[in-house]
Amino acid sequence: MNMVEIIGKKKLGQVLTHEEIDYFVQGAATGTIPDYQLAAMLMAIRLNGMTAEETTYLTLSMTRSGDVADLSAIPGVKVDKHSTGGVGDTTTLVLAPLVAACGIPVAKMSGRGLGHTGGTLDKLESIPGMSVEIAEDAFIRQVQTIGGAIIGQTGTLAPADKTLYALRDVTSTVDSLPLIASSIMSKKLASGADAIVLDVKTGSGAIMHTLEGSIDLAKAMVDIGTLADKPVVAIVTGMEQPLGTHVGNALEVKDAIDVLSGRTAGALKEVSLLLGSHMLVLAGRVKTTTEGKALLEEAIRSGAGLQKLREIIAAQGGDPNVCNDLSLLPQAKVVKAYSWDAEGYVEDMDTTAIGLAAQALGAGRMKKSDVLDYSVGLVLHARIGDKVEQGTPLVTVYAKDEAAADTAAAKVRQVIKLSPVPVQQPPLWYAIVTKDGVQRFDR
Ligand code: URA
Repeated sequence: MNMVEIIGKKKLGQVLTHEEIDYFVQGAATGTIPDYQLAAMLMAIRLNGMTAEETTYLTLSMTRSGDVADLSAIPGVKVDKHSTGGVGDTTTLVLAPLVAACGIPVAKMSGRGLGHTGGTLDKLESIPGMSVEIAEDAFIRQVQTIGGAIIGQTGTLAPADKTLYALRDVTSTVDSLPLIASSIMSKKLASGADAIVLDVKTGSGAIMHTLEGSIDLAKAMVDIGTLADKPVVAIVTGMEQPLGTHVGNALEVKDAIDVLSGRTAGALKEVSLLLGSHMLVLAGRVKTTTEGKALLEEAIRSGAGLQKLREIIAAQGGDPNVCNDLSLLPQAKVVKAYSWDAEGYVEDMDTTAIGLAAQALGAGRMKKSDVLDYSVGLVLHARIGDKVEQGTPLVTVYAKDEAAADTAAAKVRQVIKLSPVPVQQPPLWYAIVTKDGVQRFDR
């Protein structure tokens, strides 16, 4: 078989055979196909798509490209959760300790930043000393002893995805239904979870911008899970604005700690509780999501969730004191606040552009080899529907120098649209997709 011919077929929009998909995936996993051919193939898939059968086969081939984790030594139903990626989307850091504090084991394998979206591993690594590269046996021992662990996919788990994910990040090939579905589901099937909750984002900061595109992605992933005999619930949630107020690695750790310590409420907390409550239902801990939310709320109130985060950080070599003293997180050289110079109601924002502004500050990668600046990012003070006037806070930028801060603030100002008339807040979630179908929520 020959990679040039396979790329050529996809370039013309033709359907690939199982053998051709296996050849591409094996080459990605073993390093026998050079990055430039993999990148060309990714772009051909991004431009011409794949059939449902190709996507399913690609997923299974990527799952088989490495080992499948055996979590059977951990008692109970292991429920995993994965987001398609967003801006200020740090639900894992909130719900993983909360769900673990409710007695459900959380064996979580997370990813790094992708395109304009942040990654849990990068956020965790902003905690001094914290390690996310942990061998499978140590990972299992940690979940057995303290009930939770958040690590990067081990080298042997879906290695094809590891290679392709890093290449997609820097070749503008992130926003592709078959590539997202196969990336997420191959890892989830290989991670050994018994059931999966997916957070499929929709809106200007999501990888899929339209609701219909996001529902299609959710359906594709639920179908793949069903075929593999894993219960999957996919919730389509809004990403027309950053989920939390903070965007950037250490800043998002702070946002999560603020929610866990009960200091802040809002969209990040609400969506985390929704996803967490579905995890508790799938794990059999509660019967309804209402019961689940009450349990998670209690774990915030009692401090059990924050305590679990401390334990997870300490077990992975990090400094748990960050949970009480946020000044132990990396601090930016320049912190500059900007306010509105116009008035109106926040109508709309280009959240991808806001994510890219954070990336340009150093919070995300432009090249595979880029080293992140964990301290930088921004805190957005306006949400859709808010009334603002001259002098109302717009954004606080955390940067390496004043010029970078000014550039980021100008970008943010430019991509937020104001309306002269009141604007309704968008819903936090739009639909739930299961094997039984799509349930949409009214606006
Ligand atoms: N998360 C992943 O793991 N893969 C994607 O392609 C998108 C989000």
